[in-house]
Amino acid sequence: MAQVQCPNGHLYEQVTHSACPSCPAPEQAASFSGSDAQTVLPAQAASGLRASGDSTLTVTDNRTAQTYTLPLQDGNIRALDLRRIKVHPDDFGMVSYDPAYLNTAACKSSITFIDGDKGILRYRGYAIEDLAEKCNFLEVAYLLLLGELPTEAESKEWEYKIQHHTMLHENAKKFMDGFHHNAHPMGMLVSTIAALSTFYPKARHVTDPDERMLNVLRLIAKMPTMAAYAYRHSRGFPYVYPDNSLSYTQNFMNMLWQMTEPNYVVNPSLARALDVLFILHADHEQNCGTTVMRCVGSAQADPFLTMAAAAAALAGPLHGGANEEVIKMLDEIGSVDHIPAYIRRVKAGELKLMGFGHRVYKSYDPRASIIKKAADEVFAVTGSNRRLDIALELERIALQDDYFMRRNLYPNVDFYSGIMYQALGFAPEMFTVLFAIPRTVGWLAQWQEMLEDPEQKIARPRQVYTGPELRKLASHP
Ligand code: SDX
Repeated sequence: MAQVQCPNGHLYEQVTHSACPSCPAPEQAASFSGSDAQTVLPAQAASGLRASGDSTLTVTDNRTAQTYTLPLQDGNIRALDLRRIKVHPDDFGMVSYDPAYLNTAACKSSITFIDGDKGILRYRGYAIEDLAEKCNFLEVAYLLLLGELPTEAESKEWEYKIQHHTMLHENAKKFMDGFHHNAHPMGMLVSTIAALSTFYPKARHVTDPDERMLNVLRLIAKMPTMAAYAYRHSRGFPYVYPDNSLSYTQNFMNMLWQMTEPNYVVNPSLARALDVLFILHADHEQNCGTTVMRCVGSAQADPFLTMAAAAAALAGPLHGGANEEVIKMLDEIGSVDHIPAYIRRVKAGELKLMGFGHRVYKSYDPRASIIKKAADEVFAVTGSNRRLDIALELERIALQDDYFMRRNLYPNVDFYSGIMYQALGFAPEMFTVLFAIPRTVGWLAQWQEMLEDPEQKIARPRQVYTGPELRKLASHP
């Protein structure tokens, strides 16, 4: 049972008490401090201290002329304190109505920081630009999960542990073989992640840190294998087993593309480009998929079932599925001179410019800038293509158009990643799979943080009921 602390420092079981039982209810507090004064919680009044934390918020309910002083924590109110605001003593109390959680902090987190106005993205305090330039994906995975970059020895041990979990149970191949040849790889991946839950029954012991870390290693290691098996199945090719002599991205590319040659030769600059893409996609604080991870994880489902739910959310075209939609959009546009007509359709509200806009970034998504730069290195190897030409012209036109500027619509991480994945040789239906592989690290880091947070409990939001009042059921024929 989770304990919470009221602004006066009293600890109480939130499940058994909706408000702090040690503090008198607000109406008593109101009468205590007089109806026209601020309602200061009793302990504060007695000690003369302001609310706990660094400041308070005073609100007046004009329905009752009652004033309430709510304590602020890190400059924010605790939504639960709104419950003190009532019109009648037997009211449930006020809730905050926030569809799609536009302005709701559901947790405290020290993993990723984003400043949407300034286009800032940091993992554990390090700028994404620095990490993309100086680290590899497994080092960043270690940072996100454990809070610090690994030493050389820690990095070697980390890579060794992950390499020794890359194999899948042979039965997973039978499971994969059951899909249609044209099954979407995301459908195959989400199902196989969930199916792994049946191979590791002890994974449901989510409060055991050692069991949790074992399954963190399994999921990071097995995602490329599952992704490669899904791709090979969709092409009717035999599965290629992991090769632990290769790096994380080289092993993935080998499992995807090795044919009859004894060893597939991975181009190191293309493998590095994929490593950078994995770093950029590793975490992004409380996005849709991560919110699902935290929500399902709060019920203490095992990490395989929990992460299958998060991957399912990522598959949505408004979320991680956008990179595949960008390629379809560029192909629909077809050539640079068709761009103005397409923009007109977007501005008429007929369709969205896929790869543009973001809930948080109201300026350029820093990841898009890094991808655009990395794309030059890839195209130096693979040769440029017309999709890139259309994308660059589309971006140039959109960023000069008031319709997009007024709505703060800039390219996001998905706008250029699809073009790069395609240049690296990936089929569009694999693009969201390529998002899910690195995002595994972010999902698991956030999942662990949630499980270790004493303030967290099973997620169960409230609602504003708009349905009918009690109705009598006449004699039903
Ligand atoms: C990811 O949250 C994350 O961090 C996600 C992510 C991560 O790393 O996890 O960054 C990954 O999901 C990136 C986003 C990928 N999705 C797309 O590129 C799909 C296209 N983009 C849109 O669907 C949209 O921009 C969202 C979903 C990304 C954000 O939508 P919001 O914040 O809910 O904004 P909104 O839909 O309320 O739009 C505000 C206005 C509306 O116009 P008006 O009604 O005010 O006239 O902007 C318009 C929208 O119609 N608009 C667009 C647009 N996106 C928003 N118009 C044209 N093209 C677009 N892409």
